[in-house]
Amino acid sequence: ATIYRQDYLPPSYLVDTVELGFDLDPARTIVASRLTMRRNPDSAERAIVLCGENLELVALRMNGKTLGKREYAIDDKTLRIPNAPERATLEIETLTAPRQNTTLNGLYVSNGNFFTQCEAEGFRHITYFPDRPDVMAKFTVMLRADKQRYPVLLSNGNLIEEGDLGDGRHFAKWEDPFKKPSYLFALVAARLECQEETFALADGREALLQVWVEEGNLDKTNYAMQSLKNSIRWDEQRYGLELDLDRFMIVAVGDFNMGAMENKGLNIFNTKYVLANPRVATDTDYAGIEAVVGHEYFHNWTGNRVTCRDWFQLSLKEGLTVFRDQEFSADMIGTDSGRAVSRIEQVRTLRQAQFPEDAGPMAHPVRPDSFVEINNFYTVTVYEKGAEVVRMIQTLVGREGFRKGMDLYFARHDGQAVECDDFRRAMADANGRDLAQFELWYSQAGTPVVRADTSYDAEAKTYTLTLSQSCPPTPGQQSKAPFHIPFAVGLLGANGRDLPLTIDGVAHGTGAVLELLEARQRFVFTDVAEAPTPSLLRDFSAPVILEYDYSDAELLHLFSHDSDPVNRWEAGQRLAMARLLKLTAAVAAGAKLELDETFINALRKMLSDASLDAAFREQALLLPSESMIADQLETVNPQAIHLARQFMRRTIGTELRADLFAQYDANQTPGPYSPDAGSAGRRGLKNLALAYLAAAPSPANNALAKMQFDTAGNMTDRVAALGALIHAEAEYASDALARFYDDFEHEALVVDKWFSMQAAAPGTDVAAVRELMLHPAFNIKNPNRVRSLVFAFCAGNPAQFHAADGSGYAFWAEQVGALDALNPQVASRLARSMDRWRRYAPALQLPMKKALQQVAKGKKLSNDVREVVGKALTN
Ligand code: ARG
Ligand code: ZN
Repeated sequence: ATIYRQDYLPPSYLVDTVELGFDLDPARTIVASRLTMRRNPDSAERAIVLCGENLELVALRMNGKTLGKREYAIDDKTLRIPNAPERATLEIETLTAPRQNTTLNGLYVSNGNFFTQCEAEGFRHITYFPDRPDVMAKFTVMLRADKQRYPVLLSNGNLIEEGDLGDGRHFAKWEDPFKKPSYLFALVAARLECQEETFALADGREALLQVWVEEGNLDKTNYAMQSLKNSIRWDEQRYGLELDLDRFMIVAVGDFNMGAMENKGLNIFNTKYVLANPRVATDTDYAGIEAVVGHEYFHNWTGNRVTCRDWFQLSLKEGLTVFRDQEFSADMIGTDSGRAVSRIEQVRTLRQAQFPEDAGPMAHPVRPDSFVEINNFYTVTVYEKGAEVVRMIQTLVGREGFRKGMDLYFARHDGQAVECDDFRRAMADANGRDLAQFELWYSQAGTPVVRADTSYDAEAKTYTLTLSQSCPPTPGQQSKAPFHIPFAVGLLGANGRDLPLTIDGVAHGTGAVLELLEARQRFVFTDVAEAPTPSLLRDFSAPVILEYDYSDAELLHLFSHDSDPVNRWEAGQRLAMARLLKLTAAVAAGAKLELDETFINALRKMLSDASLDAAFREQALLLPSESMIADQLETVNPQAIHLARQFMRRTIGTELRADLFAQYDANQTPGPYSPDAGSAGRRGLKNLALAYLAAAPSPANNALAKMQFDTAGNMTDRVAALGALIHAEAEYASDALARFYDDFEHEALVVDKWFSMQAAAPGTDVAAVRELMLHPAFNIKNPNRVRSLVFAFCAGNPAQFHAADGSGYAFWAEQVGALDALNPQVASRLARSMDRWRRYAPALQLPMKKALQQVAKGKKLSNDVREVVGKALTN
């Protein structure tokens, strides 16, 4: 059934305290709950309504009295006690079977240890409770378990008591001093080890910080610990927000549906975002750990102290917290150029994943109006577009204004469950700004298109920029009103420098943020001495598609000179995209493939410009992905796109061969490995050079990849070399893959890389993927493993997935079905790889539709998958 935002009703009862008792047993765990409840003055409803799923009710008492069968009603989702008194103390005993729980939602077992995942609605799989974020209560938790098997017993807040129970079992009692919604509850009962230290907080208090991992992994916790300390410091300094607990724990688990979870004081993480050392983790892994550790830590204020009224408000905490972790990562690099590189990566993510979502059947506003299954709405729109919306507010009110808005937000709402509107209002009120029209960013789905037209009047020395905006229809939203768009611009002179900007007699220095409010608006720059080259939407100041008829000459000018590094990069992307589209058409037409000298020379200049950071040059030389190319086309031909892009890569490898070798040598990082941005940037550029050389195989090029594979001193260089070999040298590659597996078979996260590199390799077809699924290391119950093989193929190898015989689609349908029976959340993510089926050539559309229909008629389909395939078929 669809749930609508407009139907929100306050809870009938509030919960003041929760006392939970767990007798942990993998087969049969007893959960005892004692809730003190009182009627909510804001509700007209007289019944107590508790959520509960897959639970066996053992006992139910209210105010000391066992309730008879006629005093309450129970179905597969709710327990209702009609005509409850003003105040009620409920005592509930239930049974669950954690070992049977393959959904990894609620209480489950991973490698013999107990973990929980309660966001969004997992708590109702643990006990009966008003499992909604606007019910906030104080939790006390008693854990009891076998001492040998589960020596470590953790829950939220502070440890207040622990001891033996005499029968080989022991207990630990935890108390969380802060009121919280049930989705932030967590427990861990496990055999684990920890790295710990005490850390001085800004106000002089000390906090105990711990990173818990399975045995044998204590050599991989340093970076997570360092990232946690950096996060705590950063939030103190940038926002004046302190850690409010005496203890903060991070626990790593190998079976996890998402990245990590911000449970109060007890963050539970996918191992992928905790474990790292140079031997097993790449630069990308290190960056991911820093970002996710930061993200979950920052939730302690943006999410936990101030939470969401209902799940439609998810972006209130997620968009804001992604924005915060982005700013944290950028500040950790510390240079302007590093900041620009992280901004470029954000733009890439938006184009790679969010724009397609916004243009597809699952398109939804940052604050959705309805959903069937909330787990389907932990999306790039809610997260990354949500972060863009927050970033635009900062652009409009300035960094200081933004801080004032944050201060007001906490002053008003600390301890509350609120709406996205409350955040926007705090920002508006703190800055005396009207952000009413800005609200449309929360309520309207779809990516706005901004069209720019310019004209220069040499006589009057005026330059006129006309901006027009529109937004395509999305499911349920046929027409859109104009957005409030901060549009940053600069004007470049012929010498490549920024010209001074004057608008309406006001000087703006060399950069201005225009505010586009109407469907069409004109901006006139005066005293413009020469016909400029416009640098539009600098720093990607709004998540829009910019249309402007740039000439190649203008793009080359921007690519060499723009003072805004994001637009400098963007000019290169435009130059490359135009050529990739032409090449794709040429492949499809069987015409001759050619790449112009001018473009190659621009790349050559960029590659060797030592005045620019290696990390920036790497970004500037990375081509738009196959799916970004697909996004530009009316009808998608995945094989043609692949061949076109391969041709461009090969040509770059051939034409720039000497320069690539030179940069390969110039960007070595001798000495011990360090994941800092400077070193990572050099490795990135060096390994991109290697990848281009491998795209144009030759004995010398291949020898370079072999040499790097054989001598690599860290995982970044090792996987880069393996990737190069997979593309260049089939024979050596299979040997290298075998050696790689032998060396790392006991490192699950490295085995994931081993699978995903093969799944995404151009030579891997469905048959090869099926073969890999028979490998003893494949495990369909482990989400990381499934993502590394099945997702990496279905979503990361378009040319093979879309094989003309439809075999990829049949495989997809089979896997969605198999996964859905075990883990609906993972199944439904995989289901989304068919979202854009209507855009393929008719010969592919038909088998795609069939595969969707086949999944849709599955007998025991979850809500998760039903919603996704249903929307794909109807929207
Ligand atoms: N709140 C978590 C985070 O972004 C995500 C948890 C989502 N889990 C889920 N099963 N939907 O940090
Ligand atoms: Zn989050």
